[in-house]
Amino acid sequence: MIQMKTLWITSALIFCFSFLGCTKNENMILVGEFGSLTGGQATFGISTNKGIKMAFDEINEKGGIKGKKIKLITEDNQGKTEEAAASVTRLITQNKVIAIIGEVASGRSKAAAPIAQQHGIPMISPSSTNPDVTKVGDNIFRVCFIDPFQGLVMAKFASGHLKAKKAAVMRSVGNEYSVGLADVFAAEFKKMGGEIVADLSYQDNDVDFKAQLTQLRSKKPDVIFVPGYYTEVGLIAKQAKDLGIKAPLLGGDGWDSPKLHEIGKDAINGSYFSNHYTTESTDPVVVEFIKKFQEKYKETPDGLAALGYDAAKILAQAMEKAPELTSKAIRDEIAKTKDFAGVTGKITINAERNAVKSAVVVQVDGPKRKYVTTINP
Ligand code: PHE
Repeated sequence: MIQMKTLWITSALIFCFSFLGCTKNENMILVGEFGSLTGGQATFGISTNKGIKMAFDEINEKGGIKGKKIKLITEDNQGKTEEAAASVTRLITQNKVIAIIGEVASGRSKAAAPIAQQHGIPMISPSSTNPDVTKVGDNIFRVCFIDPFQGLVMAKFASGHLKAKKAAVMRSVGNEYSVGLADVFAAEFKKMGGEIVADLSYQDNDVDFKAQLTQLRSKKPDVIFVPGYYTEVGLIAKQAKDLGIKAPLLGGDGWDSPKLHEIGKDAINGSYFSNHYTTESTDPVVVEFIKKFQEKYKETPDGLAALGYDAAKILAQAMEKAPELTSKAIRDEIAKTKDFAGVTGKITINAERNAVKSAVVVQVDGPKRKYVTTINP
């Protein structure tokens, strides 16, 4: 008897909760996000999430979109490629999201994009720069520049600004972003009359780079291009210094993390990387963004946070303009994005669903990044 009663109450409760949950979600626009909130690339996911949340909070505070509030559902993939695909499947089939924001790392965006494409769910990567990502299909967009441009920027900087003649490259094999960017840099640097004196490999999660660095040291490069992610780059900088290597390290956006200097310490100071925005900008959009972000999170936003914010705002604008809140209508509006005044620059989505934007080169100065130059496409 008691058992029956308990069973009845439990079922009633389950029914109520699912029913309430259901009506609640009906008045909400469900947006999915997948990112690395833990693991060796955790700051990528965490910063992006903060930027996205800030954008959606601002919109919800003003009443939302078409009378509905946006609800963000975030999945942590721990920086694992397999998990990225599984997360996106869950977001679409279980959570029934209408659109997706993610990923940062090109490899994970590429692994998950076919799933979004098959289900007709628009996906916007805030920061994946490998060209292949958006080639997956017409539902896949990005709001950042791509690596053929980023690699050219750093080759130009090495050759023009630093007057380098000999460059060494250290690439993370198995990381599509790193390999793609290394290839572009090497090809462009050679076109500019430079020589690639060493092209060495490592893998994400490696901790000992002494063998490669010793080999590279004997070739006496003027610069060392390391298009990797911050954890390994920090360690490479430290070990290079220990081996007496004085050539400056150069890299791409994958360096952008508050952890870069925590890991690399003094050894990373003076190195340069290309990035999506500079905190030194006087553009009112940037100034306002940094101010609000600092108020909300008590920290200075990195490029990931800025791109997450821009991706979320572009998605929201598309949802606002769409005649109806369907994935298809939203997709069509994202594709029409033109001259959007983002924190990371003016964003126009082109026919390949990429954004054509300028890049900045910054120099690492402890936890700060000194603005050096802007390079236009
Ligand atoms: N562009 C990198 C990639 O495609 C990801 C990244 C973007 C990392 C911005 C840091 C900052 O893999």
